[in-house]
Amino acid sequence: MNIQWQQQVVLITGASGGIGSAIAKALDKKGARLILAGRNEIKLNQLANSLSGEAIVVTSDITTPQGRETLYRACEGASVSILINNAGSTHVGQFNTAPIEALVNLNLTAPMLLTQRLIPLLARRSHAHVVNVGSAFGSIGFAAHSTYCATKFALRGWTESLQREYHNSTIDFHYLAPRATDTTLNDDRVVALNNALGNHVDHVDVVAKHLINQLEKGKPRVAIGFAERLFAKINGLFPSIVDRALAKKLPIIEKHAYSAPSTEGASSTCNSQPLSAASALSNTSR
Ligand SMILES: NC(=O)c1ccc[n+]([C@@H]2O[C@H](COP(=O)([O-])OP(=O)(O)OC[C@H]3O[C@@H](n4cnc5c(N)ncnc54)[C@H](OP(=O)(O)O)[C@@H]3O)[C@@H](O)[C@H]2O)c1
Repeated sequence: MNIQWQQQVVLITGASGGIGSAIAKALDKKGARLILAGRNEIKLNQLANSLSGEAIVVTSDITTPQGRETLYRACEGASVSILINNAGSTHVGQFNTAPIEALVNLNLTAPMLLTQRLIPLLARRSHAHVVNVGSAFGSIGFAAHSTYCATKFALRGWTESLQREYHNSTIDFHYLAPRATDTTLNDDRVVALNNALGNHVDHVDVVAKHLINQLEKGKPRVAIGFAERLFAKINGLFPSIVDRALAKKLPIIEKHAYSAPSTEGASSTCNSQPLSAASALSNTSR
């Protein structure tokens, strides 16, 4: 698919974060015009100032109707053609400490409502795209990530449904599943766990490169990492094999997951409750 980047107007939610800002920089290099969204105005302005092209900064909380309306108005004025639903957070710990409503609202309900609101604007363009940033954990259920996994599984299913529902339309829907990526989303416990499990951790530029390639090639779904793709396939076909493999990892997982975080990860966005000791968590790839 031939994307004329200079003609694209791209809304990136979570542009102030690690993956979002890498996507913004990569799209800026391609010549796209950007709408940078997040709550942290200082970070968004710093990012906008570092870009060579035009960028509009919109400070808004996407979990609120007012925040989404602010984004709608910015998109209407700028004639948006690509929506990248990237804002998100995590919770690492026991299920009984999970901030369920907050996490589901941010990772799932907000992108659904924002997309529903923006579809009429996207339909005004001759061709438009929506990219939902999911996760390897949208295909593998992981101990101590249950609520995060639930949101990303749902995001994947929702995207797939829209791909099929809008098949004959001018809007393409895409699902991108990064594996573990080096951002402040992952607090020190997760970093230690990834080290202990020998998990590959990508630089944010890798995710941005995959997203651009996905849009240029028109791929509906992309999962980053051969091992993660294989693991997800085995999990789909023979989940009991993955049950046994992950059960063996549980002692390592528990060791790292139940210590208190000493660095602040973005999980604090949605995780106001301290982790209590015991139970299971792990991370191979968020
Ligand atoms: N890092 C990983 O290992 C990894 C792996 C797979 C998938 N992912 C996914 O990649 C996406 C980006 O993650 P990241 O690693 O870049 O995380 P990050 O650095 O923590 O960035 C998260 C972004 O979400 C925004 N955000 C959070 N709450 C918001 C709200 N209520 N309203 C508007 N914006 C909000 C933050 O903006 P403000 O702080 O300005 O509000 C920030 O820009 C997420 O969907 C995540 O699930 C990450």
